Amino acid sequence: MTRTIPYVHSGRLTGSYREYVVDPPKFLARQRARHGELFRFRIGHRHLIYLERAEWVQHVLHKNHANYIKSLAYRKLRLLLGEGLLTSDGGAWKRQRQVIGPAFRRERIRDYFALMTDFTERMLVRWRGHDRINLNDEMRHITLQIVTKTLLGVESQRSLDIIRHQLPLALRYVLDRVSSPLPLPTYLPTPKNLRFRAAMRDMHGLMQEIVSSRGAAEANDVLSSLLNGIHTIEPDAKAQPRTLREQVLTLFVAGHETSAIALCWTMHLLGRHPQVLAKLRSEVRSNLRREPPSMEELAALPYTAQVLKESLRLMPPIWLMARESLGTDQLGKHKILPGDILTICPYLMHRSELYWSEPGRFYPERFDSNRGADIAPYTYFPFGGGPRLCIGNNFAMLELQLLLTRIVQCYDFELETTHHPGVEFSLSLRPRNEIWIRLRPVDTRAISSTFESTRMH
Ligand code: HEM
Repeated sequence: MTRTIPYVHSGRLTGSYREYVVDPPKFLARQRARHGELFRFRIGHRHLIYLERAEWVQHVLHKNHANYIKSLAYRKLRLLLGEGLLTSDGGAWKRQRQVIGPAFRRERIRDYFALMTDFTERMLVRWRGHDRINLNDEMRHITLQIVTKTLLGVESQRSLDIIRHQLPLALRYVLDRVSSPLPLPTYLPTPKNLRFRAAMRDMHGLMQEIVSSRGAAEANDVLSSLLNGIHTIEPDAKAQPRTLREQVLTLFVAGHETSAIALCWTMHLLGRHPQVLAKLRSEVRSNLRREPPSMEELAALPYTAQVLKESLRLMPPIWLMARESLGTDQLGKHKILPGDILTICPYLMHRSELYWSEPGRFYPERFDSNRGADIAPYTYFPFGGGPRLCIGNNFAMLELQLLLTRIVQCYDFELETTHHPGVEFSLSLRPRNEIWIRLRPVDTRAISSTFESTRMH
């Protein structure tokens, strides 16, 4: 027998928008306590279904993924990203994944690792002249440098500046349109529309320059894979330059802020849990020599990996995902109809008492497989799941491990302010305010002298 999905009633025209927008997870958790693991709610004219059961998440993201496409919010992102890997569906998405996938395989990531190390060392040297740093800025800067070099083979300051300034502006514009109940048409010459167009012009100009100057696609970066496979993604030669731009922008958007945020939260959590930080330090310093670690040495630091996993559990940078149902489907006794939009919240699933003991506690040991840690499928999915699993997950984990290890190896750090920076539940889970940390070099000889000349940006 089919059961009706409980509905969160709201007398207002905007539905539950007012309660939701103040603190989305709080709103969802409150309704979850009242209505159970599946309920409907309305934000403006949009009807949404929230679900919070691991087997249903697995069903939607994995087992019956063919019935689901990215929802309207992702489609609105197309204004910025076109039909790139993050925002496309069906055959177009499959062709892109086939072409781009190999650029993120382990053997290719090995090549990127040398570049990651190079940028990390420069950052550590730059920090030597500073006793305090703004973590948000520093992590955004290093992850942007890494992604720009590994994606495009570019490290010029001008390219970084264009992306650093114009990308957040364009992204903010699109996100405002996603959340606005009545966005003004994009063709009107409003100041916001004009600023967005200028930002897009600058970024497209830059992408075009980089692609044209590449000539033969011989380099070992993601752009080379794209250039080699562009005919598979887009057979129409006239549309290819645009497709290339969209793919590269997608990787920028998906690939740099997520890692930066993960590092900010990890360092923040460590700053607030000195005993975890002490254990991490001890693992890093007793196992590594002074030099930057190899990939194999990093893989032999289990506690470091557990710390990162635990941080991604409590503060998953992508805290909410959504899918639209193409046909009729069944979740338990509940019927899902074509057009229904399902929302899945890793942030709340990762903190559910049903799946985790002491879910609010920062306790990396819970990921220790030697202690019989048994994480059931789809109770932990910071990188999503099924065929749309994050393409950059191995890349990201390696980047996070390297940066965290090297920072801990070379510096003692503590939070400058102990109050919580607050959380912004936007497209990603950003710290609302700046996080400053105080630094003290542990062993100046451990900080590579190769990059002595690098200055603070
Ligand atoms: C800690 C860092 C990261 C986190 C937590 C993260 C998380 C995610 C999640 C949850 C998804 C799935 C979204 C959905 O199914 O709706 C996703 C997709 C994606 N991610 Fe990541 N990501 C990270 C780093 C990266 C990096 C470094 C790159 C690339 C350089 C990247 C590129 C992508 C792309 C292209 C997709 C779309 C894949 C597809 O639909 O086929 N991500 N990411």
